[in-house]
Amino acid sequence: MSLSVVILAAGQGTRMRSALPKVLHKLADKPLVEHVIDSARQLGADDIHVIYGHGGDAVPTTLAHCKVDWVKQDEQLGTGHAVAQAIPHIPMDRQVLGLYGDVPLTSIDTLKNLILLAQKSGFGLLTIALEDASGYGRIVRDESGKVVRIVEHKDASDTERMINEVNTGILAASRENLAKWLEQLDNKNSQGEYYLTDIIAMAVSEGISISTTSPADSHEVLGVNNKRQLAELERAYQLQQANRLMDAGVTLRDPARFDLRGSVICGKDVIIDVNVIIQGENQVGNDVEIGPNCLIINSKIDDGVKILANSVIENAVIGKNSRVGPFARLRPEAQLSEETHIGNFVEVKKSRIGKGSKVNHLSYVGDSIVGSNVNIGAGTITCNYDGANKHLTEIGDNVFVGSDTQFIAPVKIGEGATIAAGSTITKEVDAGALALSRVKQISKSGWKRPQKKKTD
Ligand code: UD1
Ligand code: CA
Repeated sequence: MSLSVVILAAGQGTRMRSALPKVLHKLADKPLVEHVIDSARQLGADDIHVIYGHGGDAVPTTLAHCKVDWVKQDEQLGTGHAVAQAIPHIPMDRQVLGLYGDVPLTSIDTLKNLILLAQKSGFGLLTIALEDASGYGRIVRDESGKVVRIVEHKDASDTERMINEVNTGILAASRENLAKWLEQLDNKNSQGEYYLTDIIAMAVSEGISISTTSPADSHEVLGVNNKRQLAELERAYQLQQANRLMDAGVTLRDPARFDLRGSVICGKDVIIDVNVIIQGENQVGNDVEIGPNCLIINSKIDDGVKILANSVIENAVIGKNSRVGPFARLRPEAQLSEETHIGNFVEVKKSRIGKGSKVNHLSYVGDSIVGSNVNIGAGTITCNYDGANKHLTEIGDNVFVGSDTQFIAPVKIGEGATIAAGSTITKEVDAGALALSRVKQISKSGWKRPQKKKTD
């Protein structure tokens, strides 16, 4: 049977104390509800319906790249009312899986298992036993252990409140049955809401037995209602990812101080020191070492590269056996060939640096093409911007650039040229030439420094 997924995401999330709708708060740099949408995709859902409401169009607008069916619930009249909004959009003969947009970490295995159970028995319900079950809907079972209904905390008797098996809210049933039961819901309860949970008793009265299953880990069914829970799930998620990387052979000096906000493919013998954040999509080769406190975004790092402490690397490519940092900044379109050295307080933007070239100290290289075996001395600046346009600096192979040089772009330096320290280069330099632009030094012997005026 084909699968439709309904994701409830219309709530406000008052306890987040934020102007942002709850489901747009981010876990690992991705909105909560997008994690849920991604899970639905991984399950192979044929269609995904996201019920939104609070925050107006902020949710569908922010997530326009997620190709899902956005269904607006104008008033939040309860979870049953929310699912009912999706029914007209769901094709006939579907199995329906109901998820919450603020429960981001349910594993695919758990959900697959639930769907299988629903196919067999007609109703699958994900439950979990909690030490502190207050606030949750309780699973009421008869003497033989069969589920008979769910009672919401606010409607529960004192004895029912002693039950510690709770409803996670995640369930699966056929579209046909759901549609029928949702039509019969009323809101005669303590909260005046249309409870989705009331359909369980309806199913039971029709002779359907409710199959339940529980997740392997309680984080899978925890929802985010406040910033503390958001932080708790972030750490749980990060630990999962750290474990996955370590299982694949990556050395993490401290898995508790590592954050992956996106994806990374790592080769063999990669060592990552503490407080490294990896964002977006990244590739890391074999024998790479990443020092402490580095931020790496959408980058490709080849074999044998060493990134030293406190470096920030974004949309960059780093060739084999290069060394970057400490305190280096590679900005978008920095492309380093093999065996390059980019040292401390060096910024490289939209530039190609050839094999074996070195920019070791306090420099800015932007909009440049630098050949191989070039040595760029400390304090070199490519003056690429004239206030209106960006211009190119081209530096040939084997050029030696003395310290404190400014290249006023556009400018071209021929192969093997030497630029004397302290030069301001405004014109093309021929291959093999020495370029020097310094004021001649003068010395005045016996110089008397000015004296401070006396004040009384
Ligand atoms: C619900 C369940 C409860 C379960 C708990 C698990 C019901 C009646 N109760 O209670 O049994 O233990 O979840 O967390 O189903 N939503 C909408 N539209 C609405 C109402 C809610 O989209 O009109 C969304 C919310 O944004 C949220 C989810 O549905 O993501 C659950 O709603 P919430 O109000 O938090 O339900 P609970 O009272 O916690
Ligand atoms: Ca809730």
